[in-house]
Amino acid sequence: MHELIDRISDERGDLPVRDPATGKTIATVRTYGVDEVAGIIRDADVARGAWAARTAKERARVLRAWFDLIMDRQEQLARIITAECGKPIAEARGEVAYGAAFIEWFAEEAKRAYGETIPTFADGKRVLTIKQPVGTCAAITPWNFPVAMITRKVGPALAAGCAIVLKPAEATPLSALALELLAREAGVPEALFRVVPASEPSAIGELFCSDPLIRKLSFTGSTRVGQILMAQSGQNITRLSLELGGNAPFIVFDDADIDAAVEGAMASKYRNAGQTCVCANRFLVQDGIHDAFVAKLTERVAALKVAPGAQEGSQIGPLINAAGREKVASLLDAAVARGARVMTGGHRSDLGENFFEPTVLVDVAPDIDIVRQEIFGPVAPVIRFRDEAEAIRIANDTPYGLAAYFYARDLGRVWRVTEALEYGMVAANDGLLSTEVAPFGGIKQSGLGREGSRHGLDEYLELKYCLMGGLSA
Ligand code: SIN
Repeated sequence: MHELIDRISDERGDLPVRDPATGKTIATVRTYGVDEVAGIIRDADVARGAWAARTAKERARVLRAWFDLIMDRQEQLARIITAECGKPIAEARGEVAYGAAFIEWFAEEAKRAYGETIPTFADGKRVLTIKQPVGTCAAITPWNFPVAMITRKVGPALAAGCAIVLKPAEATPLSALALELLAREAGVPEALFRVVPASEPSAIGELFCSDPLIRKLSFTGSTRVGQILMAQSGQNITRLSLELGGNAPFIVFDDADIDAAVEGAMASKYRNAGQTCVCANRFLVQDGIHDAFVAKLTERVAALKVAPGAQEGSQIGPLINAAGREKVASLLDAAVARGARVMTGGHRSDLGENFFEPTVLVDVAPDIDIVRQEIFGPVAPVIRFRDEAEAIRIANDTPYGLAAYFYARDLGRVWRVTEALEYGMVAANDGLLSTEVAPFGGIKQSGLGREGSRHGLDEYLELKYCLMGGLSA
């Protein structure tokens, strides 16, 4: 397709990569087995010593060069993302910039991994802390953001002075391999950051948890797989960061700016055709504004352009695969069987096997599967509520706690609701909250740890308490 793909694909490879819009194979890549990956981990563990010994400024310079190379290739990388994950090309360009921003951010943060001095507790003693790299890390990343989910793990790991071995999603190894290639060009030593596509992902996950050289594992994906990795890593007490499933409520109160709320709803729900962990999964709309909000939302959703992601102007591309589409269809059918009404959409699209029409669903009961499970598709189910207490109760009635959104103008309500929502991230009067400068992560079954911001660097640093005794004259 173009130069970067030619350099990373392998005609003799055993993992075909398919375009979700057409089902056609766009490239093949080679995969790595457990023994090979164990060797790669050993090499990484050797390489990390020299990397950690460099000054933070030197590491930052390499990361900055990587950032520049990614941005120089923004268009090529965006085309790879769209080709293997299906998202509209405009969104893919945005993802490259979003993903690169983590590298730039952590290049800068590398220089600020400060320790502290603590007022002493006894004569002749001084108390300090220093921060040191955790060691060799592993990462497992998903297909829905094939660039950004990698950079927000690898950026802080390298900035902190760690080595990292990364298994990308089986559906989207090309973006990962392209990033690895550019990292190499920027001066990241070869053994320090390795991408290992796998045809047996669960065996590699098990290795990451059981290999004593791996001191930290960062995973983004489903809660079910997160639970397995957490159980498997118990033996080694491997440090974990888990960014898992979500069930984001999007609440619209009577006093909301309705046009702003519709704008936010479009951005939150239909980004990547609804395939993000932070997508609004259920809309809770107060009685007094319900019908007007639904009418405006329906009008906007009906006008969305569904087309292959590579087509300029596409707003909704294909879902990742037929299983994803069938899950959306069956949740929708079950909701309709329980009395929900389709305002627009509601069908598989005839554009291709993986396409589904953007949909608005009303009269949705708060206890049915479509609002209890992560939909991961372009369907907006709307639940009607009476008052603030009821909205908070429904919003918090889930084992998940990743992102939540609400629209209201009353300042007291804005604070009350922000504090009452049991989520790791809450956005008031905005539909998009992802940025490299803020801590991204969830509570409850949505995960552990934070990515991005200064807190994202701490995930790859150990805090050492240093006592200096015998200092009395
Ligand atoms: C995700 O879906 O896991 C990440 C979304 C984001 O970073 O905005």
